[in-house]
Amino acid sequence: MMTIIGISGSLRRGSYNTSLLRAAAQLMPDNVQLRIETIAGIPLYNGDLEAAEGIPQPVASLKEAVAGADGLLLVTPEYNNSLPGVFKNAIDWLSRPPADIPRIFGGKPVALIGASPGGFGTILSQNAWLPVLRTLGADLWSGGRLLVSRAQGVFDQSGTLTDAAIKDRLRDFLHGFVAFAGSRKH
Ligand SMILES: Cc1cc2nc3c(=O)[nH]c(=O)nc-3n(C[C@H](O)[C@H](O)[C@H](O)COP(=O)(O)O)c2cc1C
Repeated sequence: MMTIIGISGSLRRGSYNTSLLRAAAQLMPDNVQLRIETIAGIPLYNGDLEAAEGIPQPVASLKEAVAGADGLLLVTPEYNNSLPGVFKNAIDWLSRPPADIPRIFGGKPVALIGASPGGFGTILSQNAWLPVLRTLGADLWSGGRLLVSRAQGVFDQSGTLTDAAIKDRLRDFLHGFVAFAGSRKH
């Protein structure tokens, strides 16, 4: 059984990106679990807080979840042609202390997807993650791309993915990523 951790970079209740992550959990290949984790509850990074209290509990548990997983799926919104600060903040916390970075992110298979109501489907946000993932030593899967544009027409009111073509592309993307993560498994 392989486990992939999936994280949405939006805190919004009706988030398209969280809906996309939920859809991904339904479309994973057999014998692969997509465990949905959250950035909710992670404080703003503050070095004084870290020095006084150490790593906050929600960060510590997310770190261990990522460390123990076979891969990491980041589902990213796009803000101002880049990545959302709330999502980056969570990843910044996960990179503390730096001595832990190789254990959490080193060689970790990572894939990026995202959804936007605009026409470009988070392409600039996904690109903005590249230097971050490189810095952390993650093993980015670049064998596929999923850019969900015009998201308001892709999910229904309850957040269910209803667009058959996107569903097929998401399934293909996940199969490709899982094959890659499986090939990296020691
Ligand atoms: C501060 C801010 C900046 C945004 N900038 C972009 C942008 O550059 N490109 C884009 O496609 N959408 C942009 N949007 C719209 C988001 O894609 C949209 O709010 C989307 O629903 C956010 O993802 P979510 O549904 O998962 O919360 C922006 C939204 C906010 C709040």
